[in-house]
Amino acid sequence: MKKDDGESFRKLKELDEAIQFHDNKYYKQAQPTISDQEYDRLKRELESLQANIDPLGLFSSDKTGSIETKESPPKVKVGDDRLDGFSSHQHLTPMLSLDNTYDRDEFFEFDQRLRKIFKVNALPYVVEPKIDGVAISLTYQNGELITATTRGNGVTGDIVTQNIQHIEKLPQKIIHKSIPEVVEIRGEVFMGHKEFHRINEDREKLGQSLYANPRNLAAGTIKLLDPKEARKRKLEIVLYGLGYCQPLSFFKEQSAFHDALRNWNAPVVEFLRTVKNADEAWDSILLLDKARHTYAYPTDGAVIKLDSLDMQVTAGTTSKAPRWAIAYKFEAERQSTLLEDIIFQVGRTGTITPVACLQPIQLAGTVVARASLHNADEIERKDIRIGDHVVVEKAGEIIPQVLQVEREKRVESLPAFIFPQDCPCCQTELVRTEGEAAWKCPSYECKAQVKARLQYFASRGCMDIENLGESVIKQLVDKQLVVKISDLYELQEEQLLTLDGFAGKSAENLVDALQVSKKQDFWRLLCGLGIKHVGSAAAKDLVRHFHTLDNLAIASLEDLIVIDGIGETMAESITHFFSSAFNQSEIEKLKAHDLCIKSNENPTDLFLRDKIFVLTGSLTRYTRDEATDQIEALGGKVSSSVSKKTSFLVAGPGAGSKLTKAESLGIEILSEEQFEFLLQNI
Ligand code: IVH
Repeated sequence: MKKDDGESFRKLKELDEAIQFHDNKYYKQAQPTISDQEYDRLKRELESLQANIDPLGLFSSDKTGSIETKESPPKVKVGDDRLDGFSSHQHLTPMLSLDNTYDRDEFFEFDQRLRKIFKVNALPYVVEPKIDGVAISLTYQNGELITATTRGNGVTGDIVTQNIQHIEKLPQKIIHKSIPEVVEIRGEVFMGHKEFHRINEDREKLGQSLYANPRNLAAGTIKLLDPKEARKRKLEIVLYGLGYCQPLSFFKEQSAFHDALRNWNAPVVEFLRTVKNADEAWDSILLLDKARHTYAYPTDGAVIKLDSLDMQVTAGTTSKAPRWAIAYKFEAERQSTLLEDIIFQVGRTGTITPVACLQPIQLAGTVVARASLHNADEIERKDIRIGDHVVVEKAGEIIPQVLQVEREKRVESLPAFIFPQDCPCCQTELVRTEGEAAWKCPSYECKAQVKARLQYFASRGCMDIENLGESVIKQLVDKQLVVKISDLYELQEEQLLTLDGFAGKSAENLVDALQVSKKQDFWRLLCGLGIKHVGSAAAKDLVRHFHTLDNLAIASLEDLIVIDGIGETMAESITHFFSSAFNQSEIEKLKAHDLCIKSNENPTDLFLRDKIFVLTGSLTRYTRDEATDQIEALGGKVSSSVSKKTSFLVAGPGAGSKLTKAESLGIEILSEEQFEFLLQNI
């Protein structure tokens, strides 16, 4: 490195830090704050600076991450999605990333480079969609799915088999006369728009933060520590790539591999063109861009690969990407508009979310007038000011993002945006916990928080109280008729008559609805109390375990942690909640109003209580989800792997290694018929 490179070096460090920040957001937290295009631009800038400063790569390390000293310029890496809490699996063939371009000429240069290696005039390629999902590697041994692994750092990934096993089209066992002994199949897990909307709508009602797009939600689902939770979200999968294969020469071409996938009944991409040269590949890319919007999964480009697998080996790879493939990315839909104002939402836990008020624009099929600005750091990093023209993007995504400011359009005198120091609702000074991005209003009495908490309590996911919507809650709180949950149950019809739009009938309806809500299942009340980290799944687990609110209220950390699905953080938050005098008094009041505070299941009724089932082979009478639901409804559990703790293995046709293992451990094995008999006769 030359001495006078100080400035570039600083820039390089800055870029590297920014990329690491966004890698973390994208891979680990599944909550990216910039678009793919903006990210690609940062990476390119880093690569080109790197090439200038350190053309021979002397200061950088290998593909698995850098061993940088303070002095050495950072090297472009494959991201890392690994999280604590998952077992790891080393890929038999590394999962590399792909070089990508938005530029037609660069695509033809890619072809030229390859033609030079092979000294030919034309090379056969395949053109496929680039799926914007979450990369997954499936290892099959003698046709049986052994593990599903995330990309991780490209070399080692997290085993997430349990979280994706419920995917309907995922082949658990490939039954075909011609299959390799071992094969790693690469694919993408994704979530359909309908399911994405369903989950986000539920989250919105529960006052939880929304996922920005289906990809993030799919990534978040795959990385859930509780497979039961993962099963509640419908994921889908599509397979396209070959990793390791034994025997090595089982497949000769990428297109032949695709044909095999199709013959094995695996879910494959619907667009695969085999072409004779780069010109034909280009035509296919354009065709794909037109057709892709009809696919079930989001696509953000085309992937062009050498068809011949031998040629792929000859072309080889760089440390992070193959030389035999390139992604041509399609431009995302974006538009410029005026940022008219920035307003603030106060969540039920006090989190302040800045929201951009935009001059309405038509973008990817909808009118966009609002966009989340995430947090104060984002506004500062992008230097967003009221009165700026901003670029808004949807990129096949659902929630619009403010990408960047159009600086050239800025009027000189626009003042920098200053994030408020006080709560926009109650003027209490905001606080920020070290290491967290969000500013919070610390006042429990803050009316905005009170409203949000009540709204959450009344929402469909919790107490589901009809006639108690946002506008009614607003009035109740503003008129100081209600400041806490228990006050709802003190409300009298006469008081309600003072609210706008409340004629006799509606007041009566609300009082009735509140009365009805007292009989709601205990888990709904528990959820509605708003204990930090306790959502509906955890509430149900807690009810199943403790049965009554009194039992739960005296549970110790140790009592809580032993429960499957309750981690340390949640356990702490539960004990903290019940130790508060305010919460204790609230609970006493709710009890006095006769709300349902115990499980309505008689624990001795649960015939399969604590029995652990493993399902294997293909079941014909139930889907896996149905079988799981039935087992769980009777108090049993479903696990994906056989161990000494397994009570029953339900083995359908085609059961393989799990059956052998269960036999060797002396575990009771049920045919599907026996399983059905068991369910029907208890
Ligand atoms: S081939 C050796 N084909 O995009 C790497 N990847 O941005 C070969 N992806 O790592 C990858 N669709 O996770 C390939 N049709 C496709 C793809 C695809 C999506 C993902 C994959 C890859 C990433 C690179």
